[in-house]
Amino acid sequence: MTYQICVQQSGALQGSGRVPGDKSISHRAVLFAALAEGESRIANFLDGGDCRATLQVLRDLGTSITTPDPTGLLVTGKGLDGFAPPRTVLDCGNSGTTIRLLAGMMAGQGFDSTLDGTPQLRRRPMGRIIEPLRQMGAQISTDNDRAPLRIKAHTRGDSGLSGIDYRLPVASAQLKSCLILAGLYGRGPTVLHQPGPARDHTERMLRAMGAKIQSTGNQLVVEPQSTPLRPITLTVPGDISSAAFLLVAASIVPDSAIRIKDVGLNPTRTGIIDALKKMGADIFLENLREQQGEPIGDIAVRHTELRGATFSGPEIVTMIDELPVLAVAGACASGRTVIGDAEELRVKETDRIATTASQLSLLGAAVTPRPDGMIVKGGTPLIGARVASLGDHRLAMLLAVAGLVAEGTTFIDDGQVTADSFPGFENCLASLGAELRINKDDCS
Ligand code: S3P
Repeated sequence: MTYQICVQQSGALQGSGRVPGDKSISHRAVLFAALAEGESRIANFLDGGDCRATLQVLRDLGTSITTPDPTGLLVTGKGLDGFAPPRTVLDCGNSGTTIRLLAGMMAGQGFDSTLDGTPQLRRRPMGRIIEPLRQMGAQISTDNDRAPLRIKAHTRGDSGLSGIDYRLPVASAQLKSCLILAGLYGRGPTVLHQPGPARDHTERMLRAMGAKIQSTGNQLVVEPQSTPLRPITLTVPGDISSAAFLLVAASIVPDSAIRIKDVGLNPTRTGIIDALKKMGADIFLENLREQQGEPIGDIAVRHTELRGATFSGPEIVTMIDELPVLAVAGACASGRTVIGDAEELRVKETDRIATTASQLSLLGAAVTPRPDGMIVKGGTPLIGARVASLGDHRLAMLLAVAGLVAEGTTFIDDGQVTADSFPGFENCLASLGAELRINKDDCS
């Protein structure tokens, strides 16, 4: 059955809403809770496709996870060495975060494991984690540095993983987190030098659970974990990466004014707010506070005329998942928007430079892909057309946002993938006033 999102050019977006729990924090909360000893309670867990994959692999490793309510989890931790050898391949679905963080955990286990996923995940680069894990002494075999990853049993204690001093070739939180987790199983400290400020949820959460992780600038030192990790009680903040679609939508649809409540505002993630402000957006943060080690707040945004801007360097990693929807803001702005130093976009769920450019161009946007980003010439009118998610949740959502200002109707094929990271996206947008319907058959 096809699932097509049909978006009409819409009037003002108004009102307030919430976005589901942060994907990165949800993955980490349940993974680390499984490594702790005792019961952890996680509220507002993201019930999306990627995080479900994480729950399933942890259950396959013998972790008891119950769901007292749809987004609440009770996790009984197994401890660092208490997982049961899995009887099946650990299926990480489409989720890069799951496979990369899990690989760091599995490298330290006393049993063999195989980590795999969908054909989409099998295309993504794993060499970046395999190389340093091998330097730590892990035995991993793969075909061509892609999933499936076959990880051999490793004995802890005097023959545990070695700590390494390692310079990360990319500013990737998934890579950093993989190595921090493996570092907990090390014989000595692991020192990581990052090229840029990738999201730091792993460090914040593991420290709160008793791990010894020191950070100075972009350098981290992880000590071997000699005591049990403490369980956590956590309410996952709203996902700023999901909020980004609403921020751009309200900025480009005339007369809009919306408020998004309880959004995570960790400074390693708020690049999209700074970027939109640089383009002239009318965005205010309110009710700022800290919730279990993560800054959160409400975001108020109103429509305003945007102007193009240039983005590159360290700011890129703080909005890596939001760059594709920033291109929509660029298409509606005056002048040129230039995105550079963003070659990492090519190895996400899809090659997001190519897919964003190709699908937005179908709506009439003037997007020129470049090896490390794109140039968007603003001001060409968008016109509804038939486009496709290409299996990428963020692509589906940015196309829906563009559809709000495109003349006529925009039809997004395979739109069900929005649920990978933002279950309820279509309803959320409609509740703010977007004219949108779902067609389970073909409505074009
Ligand atoms: C994530 C890190 C980012 C991001 C992904 C989630 C994480 O990937 O694109 O959606 O949870 O650590 P990289 O770390 O590979 O850049």
